[in-house]
Parts: sequence; structure tokens; C-alpha cells
Amino acid sequence: MADKIRVLLSEEEVNARISQVAAQISKDYEGKAIHLICILKGGVFFTCELAKRLSIPVSLDFMSVSSYGDDTKSSGVVRIVKDLDEPLAGLNVLIVEDIIDSGRTLSYLMEVLKQRGPASIRLCTLLDKPERRVKKQVKVDYTCFQIPDEFVVGYGLDYAQKYRNLPYIGVVEI
Ligand code: IMP
Ligand code: MG
Repeated sequence: MADKIRVLLSEEEVNARISQVAAQISKDYEGKAIHLICILKGGVFFTCELAKRLSIPVSLDFMSVSSYGDDTKSSGVVRIVKDLDEPLAGLNVLIVEDIIDSGRTLSYLMEVLKQRGPASIRLCTLLDKPERRVKKQVKVDYTCFQIPDEFVVGYGLDYAQKYRNLPYIGVVEI
């Protein structure tokens, strides 16, 4: 049977907010180029929508890490499944994530990527669930939306690999 999905953030709301954040990033990085690191798979829709709206020069790379299975709970274990294609030395790196939950994935990734000598490294997320944070040291530079502690899907986010293609953010009603 199909799951029932309640809309939390409509496509219009999400797109409007991404435009605002993209404008802010373009302003903050004026005169510089930016290197976006998309965290697969969840970050892919957000990365595309963000990148299209940036007015500064953009390059892209992709990384895949695993901290979740088909479960809704973090295992606390982070593994690099696919590493970046390009080195980061001298680049202004912006990590693009779908959601920061416990912060375990990002606290680990930030440490790994800082070792590779980028000129700067910042973090941008579509969604943030601050109530769920375990790794308090994770500093998010750009957040589109803070949301309550609910499991969300759509706009790249999945539940057991389903619903990534929804053009809005929704909550699966159990
Ligand atoms: P963290 O390491 O706990 O911050 O987990 C981050 C990752 O968990 C995200 O990149 C997502 O892949 C996944 N995740 C956390 N919360 C949700 C959710 O509400 N829906 C779908 N995926 C989620
Ligand atoms: Mg993710």
C-alpha cells in the first residue's frame, strides 16, 4: 500500500528559499570561485538547484558516505563509499548536504576534508534538525530550513531509497 505523505515544505517554498541562500552565497564569495561538494545521494537535488542559482564560478565534485542503512536511526559509523575525484588544495569548498541530523556524518567529513588543504571550507544544508544534534561542534554556515524532529523525505531525501524524487519535503505518515 502507498504511504501517505504530508507536505511540510512545498516546492515553491523550497525553491524560493534556495534562491535566497544562493544569493547570499554569491555575495559572500564575490570575486572568488566556489567548489561544491555534493554529498550523495541525498544532496544531489539540492546541489543542482543551488548551483543553478549561483552567480559566481562553480565547480562540482561528489562524495558518498554511509552512516544510515534503510533504517531511520544513525549507526554512528561513517564510511567513505565514494571519494572525491579532484584534490581540494587551494579551493573554496562548500559542502552541500541534504540534512544535518546527529551531525556525526559532517563532523567526521569536515575533519577528513580539512586535511586536504582547501583555502576555505564551509557547510551548506537544505535542512537542519537542531534538536537531534549529538556532535555540537558542527557549525552550519548556510541553512535553508530548520525543521522539527520528524523523519522527512523528498528533494533528495529517502525512506528506504524511496521518495527522493518528490519535488517537495514531506513527512511519511505511519
Ligand atoms: P547525521 O550523521 O545523523 O547528521 O545524518 C545525516 C544523514 O542521515 C543525512 O545526510 C541523511 O542521509 C540521513 N537522515 C537524517 N535525517 C533524515 C530524515 O529525516 N530523512 C531522510 N534522511 C535522513
Ligand atoms: Mg545525506
